[in-house]
Amino acid sequence: MPVTKGVIQKLGSRVNLILAMLLLFSINASACTSPKAKENNTAMDKKDKKTVLILGAAGQVGKMLTDDLLEQTDHNIVLYARNANERLKAKDPNRVKIFDGDFKDAEALSKAMKGVDIVYLNDTGDPEGVATIVNTMKEHKVKRIIVATVLDIYNEVNTPFGEWNRRMRSEERFQKGHLVSVSHLEVPELDYTLLRLTWLYNKEGNRNYMITQKGEPFKGAQVTRQAVSQLVTDIIKEPTDKFIKTSLGVSEPNTDWDKPSFY
Ligand SMILES: NC(=O)c1ccc[n+]([C@@H]2O[C@H](COP(=O)([O-])OP(=O)(O)OC[C@H]3O[C@@H](n4cnc5c(N)ncnc54)[C@H](OP(=O)(O)O)[C@@H]3O)[C@@H](O)[C@H]2O)c1
Repeated sequence: MPVTKGVIQKLGSRVNLILAMLLLFSINASACTSPKAKENNTAMDKKDKKTVLILGAAGQVGKMLTDDLLEQTDHNIVLYARNANERLKAKDPNRVKIFDGDFKDAEALSKAMKGVDIVYLNDTGDPEGVATIVNTMKEHKVKRIIVATVLDIYNEVNTPFGEWNRRMRSEERFQKGHLVSVSHLEVPELDYTLLRLTWLYNKEGNRNYMITQKGEPFKGAQVTRQAVSQLVTDIIKEPTDKFIKTSLGVSEPNTDWDKPSFY
């Protein structure tokens, strides 16, 4: 057959038709997930869904974190606080459980710790309580803990703000409380993230935070509780181990002042 312009046009339109059919076939194939793939996805969802225990859940950051985890993750949440049943309400009873107790109450803590993957501790002022928490975690083979503690635990704030901070804080609570607690927490057996928080205030909509690593100069005189809650949520959502065994200075960017703006 002589190769005329008409033949070339016909061949071209057939090639286009075949290409279109191949494209349709590949779209359908990827849309119809096999039962095995579906099974794998469900298994992955279950693996990704964790249970987070918030210790000190009736505290200000504890309450914000509860809301942030409910909104930004699928994780289940266990709330632990003194007089918890009078002070807390489960906003989503399918995902939230409430336990009443003090950090020093090993029996109550053990009940709350069942099935927990990640612990968030909202206070390090009670070293006996922190020691009880660490022992209970060991009993339940829970390793991951994120902790709200205070700045200057390594004398890392050598600035006029550091001097102001040392003048303002209670030395007794600091020396006997936070420092001893941190010695229980910063240990090889735990996958800890310590948050050395600068001075806290509340401002809706301000979730700006910056972090410095252990050994780096501490920066920033203030940060909002909303930002701290967001940081803890981001750490919980972090798929890599970049926050494991770290001690982070936490502040708001561009607040490297001699004291917080609200003083
Ligand atoms: N204020 C600042 O500028 C500043 C600066 C740096 C770091 N921080 C630290 O940041 C953390 C978070 O701040 P926040 O405003 O959320 O604090 P918060 O409202 O005082 O929350 C701390 C919670 O921990 C609970 N708690 C303490 N000891 C306990 C125990 N033995 N048993 C059971 N619960 C216990 C308290 O329970 P109760 O409510 O029953 O007392 C409280 O609800 C605090 O640990 C604070 O020390 C604060």
